[in-house]
Amino acid sequence: MTAPAKKRVAVLISGRGSNMMALVDAANAPDFPAEIVLVLSNKADAAGLDFARAQGIATAVIEHKAFGKDRAAFDAAMQAALEAHGVEFVCLAGFMRLLTPGFCEHWAGRMINIHPALLPSFKGLDTHARALEAGVKVHGCTTHFVTPGMDEGPIILQAAVPVLDDDNEATLAARVLKEEHRIYPETLRLLAAGRLKIDGQRVKTA
Ligand code: GRF
Repeated sequence: MTAPAKKRVAVLISGRGSNMMALVDAANAPDFPAEIVLVLSNKADAAGLDFARAQGIATAVIEHKAFGKDRAAFDAAMQAALEAHGVEFVCLAGFMRLLTPGFCEHWAGRMINIHPALLPSFKGLDTHARALEAGVKVHGCTTHFVTPGMDEGPIILQAAVPVLDDDNEATLAARVLKEEHRIYPETLRLLAAGRLKIDGQRVKTA
C-alpha cells in the first residue's frame, strides 16, 4: 500500500528561524505526514532563509516595507506565493507581521502559530521578560490556530517549564525554546494527519 501524500506546508519567518528548522528536521522523517515546500520571509536578511536554501527548500521573500501601510496587498502577495507552491497548511514561526482578517479567514483551521508563553497569559512581545517581572513560577509555550485576534486562536499544545530563582531572560528563553522545538513539530504532525478537531475554543485530538 502506498503512503498517503504528504501535506504541503509553508513556514513563514522573520528572523532566526529555529522553529522552522525544527519543523524541517521533523518533516525529513519518512513517516512524517507533511513536507515543508516553502519558507517565506518578510525580511530578505532573515537568517533562517540560508538554512532553507541549503536544504533545497524553495524560499520567497516578500518585503512588507514594499507595501507601505497596505496590509491587504502584502497578504495578497503572500497568498499568491502560497498558491504558486500548492500550499495546504501554513506555520507561522517567529513571523513578525499582523495578518489581515481576510487572510486569517482564508486559512482558518489550516494556519498555526507558536507563542513563547502559556496563553492566554503574556500575549504579544517580550514574553520572557514579562514572565520574570510578574514573578510566575511556571512559564512555557503554546501552539494555536491563527485567528484575526493576536495570540487568541484555539490552543493546540502547551509545554510548561519552571522559572528558576536565578533565571534571566536568556536562560528562561532557552528553556522555553527547547520545548517549542518539541511541541511545534508534534503540532504539525497532528494537524497534517487530520487528527485535530476544533470545537469552539477547544481543540480535541483524535
Ligand atoms: C520563538 O520564540 C517563537 O515562539 C516566537 O518567536 C520566536 C522565533 O524564534 N513566535 P525562531 O525564529 O523560531 O528561532
